[in-house]
Amino acid sequence: MAKVLILGGTTEARLLAQKLAPRADLEVTLSLAGRTASPVAHAVPLRVGGFGGADGLAEHLARERVDALIDATHPYATSISHNAAGAARKAGVALVALRRPPWKAVAGDRWIEVDDTRAAVNALGPTSRRVFVAVGRNELKPFGGAPQHFYLIRSVDPVDPPLPLPQAAYVTARGPFSEADDSALMRKHAIDVVVSKNSGGSAAYGKIAAASALGIDVIMLRRPLAAHAPAVETVDDAIAWLDHALTSAATRGV
Ligand SMILES: NC(=O)c1ccc[n+]([C@@H]2O[C@H](COP(=O)([O-])OP(=O)(O)OC[C@H]3O[C@@H](n4cnc5c(N)ncnc54)[C@H](OP(=O)(O)O)[C@@H]3O)[C@@H](O)[C@H]2O)c1
Repeated sequence: MAKVLILGGTTEARLLAQKLAPRADLEVTLSLAGRTASPVAHAVPLRVGGFGGADGLAEHLARERVDALIDATHPYATSISHNAAGAARKAGVALVALRRPPWKAVAGDRWIEVDDTRAAVNALGPTSRRVFVAVGRNELKPFGGAPQHFYLIRSVDPVDPPLPLPQAAYVTARGPFSEADDSALMRKHAIDVVVSKNSGGSAAYGKIAAASALGIDVIMLRRPLAAHAPAVETVDDAIAWLDHALTSAATRGV
């Protein structure tokens, strides 16, 4: 039986695990960083927590005799993806990255693309605005430096402690989010600008579509540089890669 390790924390990782779980020829484990207090259920056994850098992950791959590694982490989770590339090389394990393609601006979109949250705060400008922030709770600190704005902050787990901001509302919710619900939320709080990562996929696109329909700006954080690894864009392509990798290894007698 071939051993497969999926690095997860995304919808795609969960869907991939769901599709691979019934396969009798595979023993699949999914790894989570342990960031969310109550992660969603997965169809395969989980391991939770960091490996201790690229070397720790390489040791894990060797110790557990992993045959194939699928990096299905979020496109903005750069450390773990670089570690996966280094560890797979070191341990001689086949690796593929499953990365959803980024969203592309379409007619009607009013995107301002920036490199990080610090640049996003600069792009908000000095005049008070009503800002919907959906970038995850670990990257909120720079917004504390611009207290002139009202912020609606959405995250999976509560922001604790809250930011030192005089005007902020917090929403804890887990996607997928529809355009209709996000539009209603944005209208309720009179939002005039959205700050977002370019996550890709449909689960987080509601706010982007809603912003476009409402004619408001989106400050879009550009994708960070991807780790050097062969990549696929869909769950089915990841499965095709896996089958090919395992067949080639068997043919070579690895
Ligand atoms: N960044 C985002 O915007 C975002 C959005 C949605 C979901 N996520 C998910 O949240 C998790 C953490 O994201 P991040 O941006 O904090 O990652 P990161 O900065 O790339 O990773 C920081 C450290 O967390 C550990 N880690 C990350 N993902 C892991 C995984 N799947 N399994 C085991 N350890 C993991 C690793 O620790 P060691 O070095 O000790 O191994 C890694 O060096 C990822 O699984 C990602 O898919 C991230």
